[in-house]
Amino acid sequence: MILALLVFAQTPTDSGAALYGRMCVACHGADAHGHPAATTRLAVPPADLADCAASSSETEDQWTGVVLKGGSAYGLSLDMPAFGEAITPEDARRIIRYVRSLCREPGWPPGELNFPRAFVAEKAYPENELVATLSGREQELIYERRIGRRAQIELNVGTVLDSLDRPFDHSAEPYVAVGAEPVRGLAFQGQVIGSVEEGEGYAALTWVAGVGRRMGRVAPELEATGTAPRGGGSTVTLVPQLWMQLSRLGHVAMSLGLQVPVKRPDKRAKLAAFMLWDYGDAGLLKGW
Ligand code: HEC
Repeated sequence: MILALLVFAQTPTDSGAALYGRMCVACHGADAHGHPAATTRLAVPPADLADCAASSSETEDQWTGVVLKGGSAYGLSLDMPAFGEAITPEDARRIIRYVRSLCREPGWPPGELNFPRAFVAEKAYPENELVATLSGREQELIYERRIGRRAQIELNVGTVLDSLDRPFDHSAEPYVAVGAEPVRGLAFQGQVIGSVEEGEGYAALTWVAGVGRRMGRVAPELEATGTAPRGGGSTVTLVPQLWMQLSRLGHVAMSLGLQVPVKRPDKRAKLAAFMLWDYGDAGLLKGW
């Protein structure tokens, strides 16, 4: 009788933690907080990969790309090597899932919900951003600062060139914004804004609904928005737009759009543009 013994000598797939321990520890540190080993010499400090704010605001795809293509492909330092020759894309993803799991605080919205900024709808994602907008002859500077996991404060300074007697326009506008990706790659954004004017109380309700699709460094989007003022005379405007990533890191972007009034056809269409810098991600000169 022959006893056949089969041994499946299959190498077990390494866990993300094991791969991290082998390839990343020397620079990013055992706890992934970016403390390199004493023997490691680097020109720039390695990123803190375990920081909740940092890991949650990027997408898994972006960080997996950094690992495979290296920092330089994203305008980062050459000190972050490319591992594309050494490991498979699946392994790179496994490592990134592991480092992202090191953030143990619940409630940080994932970067996958951080859609390209639209013209009208406010992003339902807290960020540290500086945005300069141009719409017809009106300019606006928006400063946003994230507070904790899900909140942000926002300061707007609008300069209306054709009413120089009232160059700064401050108003209270509480709003609710939503973002969702029901189909992969298709982003829906919506918002409802209430306008409250000094001494007058409720003045108008504004709604926005938009859909966009990210395709590499560009994202065509279409938004529809309308206002319903207390005294009647509601409006509807369509805003086709094209969002473009400018920096390789993706922290500087711009968008061009056309505001086409459909409910008030007496008003003419106007061009609009904005430029934004996610200063929470990297300095303005970094990442190109
Ligand atoms: C030789 C040192 C070194 C090794 C090894 C290394 N890194 Fe890095 N890494 C860096 C440095 C330095 C930076 C910061 C680059 C910059 O800020 O310009 C960085 C940046 C990154 C970033 C970008 C973070 C951000 O904020 O966008 C990610 C993600 C990353 N590393 C993941 C990894 C992973 C995962 C491994 C292991 C597979 C690894 N790194 C191995 C040095 C290293």
